[in-house]
Amino acid sequence: MAESTLPNPEKVIAEAADFLPILGTDHIELYVGNAKHSAYYYMSAWGFQPLAYRGLETGAKDEVSYVLRQGKITLVLTTPLSSKSHINEHLKAHGDGVKSIALWVGDARKSWKETVARGAESAFEPVVRKDDDGEVVLSGIKTYGETVHVFVERQNYTGTFLPGYMDWNPDFQVKDTGLLYVDHMVGNVDWGQMNTWCRFYAEVMGFAQIISFDDKDISTEYTALMSKVMSNGNGRIKFPINEPAKGRKKSQIEEYIDFYEGAGCQHIALATTDIVATVSALKARGVEFLYVPENYYDTILDRVGEIDEELAILKKHGILIDRDDEGYLLQLFTKPVVDRPTMFFEIIQRKGATSFGKGNFQALFESIEREQELRGTL
Ligand code: FE2
Repeated sequence: MAESTLPNPEKVIAEAADFLPILGTDHIELYVGNAKHSAYYYMSAWGFQPLAYRGLETGAKDEVSYVLRQGKITLVLTTPLSSKSHINEHLKAHGDGVKSIALWVGDARKSWKETVARGAESAFEPVVRKDDDGEVVLSGIKTYGETVHVFVERQNYTGTFLPGYMDWNPDFQVKDTGLLYVDHMVGNVDWGQMNTWCRFYAEVMGFAQIISFDDKDISTEYTALMSKVMSNGNGRIKFPINEPAKGRKKSQIEEYIDFYEGAGCQHIALATTDIVATVSALKARGVEFLYVPENYYDTILDRVGEIDEELAILKKHGILIDRDDEGYLLQLFTKPVVDRPTMFFEIIQRKGATSFGKGNFQALFESIEREQELRGTL
């Protein structure tokens, strides 16, 4: 869809408040090959705290899930318990990856009804789950690839996570790394599909497009991408959507699509209010970040102006800086956290800026291409 045919953002935001009010990101569920090991990784390396568990001990026969939390970020790590589980197909195609981006809503029945009426494909109809702590209503719609949005209505529930889960308090305790909330989650979609999915978020979910980049903004000698950022009415949910753009060599988006075998969640951006402390802690525990060319820092202050932080410390950690009309932001990106070159994380600290680091894309692309070169996938 051409930009001019997108709905008026003010109208969309007003309407969004009417038909799909979203309170925040409820949780992110990843399908993984070994949830026990993944839980240990996200606890020990990332500082997530153990919260809840579901598996054979709770009567779940087909799959096991570990729930971890840090700040407002809740991760659910799920693995099938036998060859019969449908999750195996997902793992076979995609490897470890995000299955569900669950959204916290006041009315999961209405959220499902309104979005399906506007053209969403249902993932599952509204269902009530109960235990001694009350009840939740869940429903789901499909988005890009095999990813789903689950609507979670939990105002009548006082339990730890969801019915069916038991509290999980292992002896192993870890210190957090200062991660507070999900800032945004990026979807990679196939060639020519960006506008289709932006239209989905606009028409089906009432989101508005807030930013767009094209291959003139983000390209190197070899590769390029195009991106648009969709936001819900209150700005708590932001979904940038990327598609590959033609370059002389294979772009990172294309590499992702090839290895994920389709569209999927590319990165999860997690916010902190002290990026130096957060990144220091993550690095000390083994999380690997993208290399930033040293010369990035030679001229950075000319571009972004005055900042509160000492440049030498940012340079030491490879933290990137960008500025928009409203302030600046600090960010950096991990290497892929799974074996296929697919999903990674971003750590972001906003100091007024509401954008996504467009000024850093060039440096990042060069860095990612350096990694692709090593993988032989450029
Ligand atoms: Fe991002």
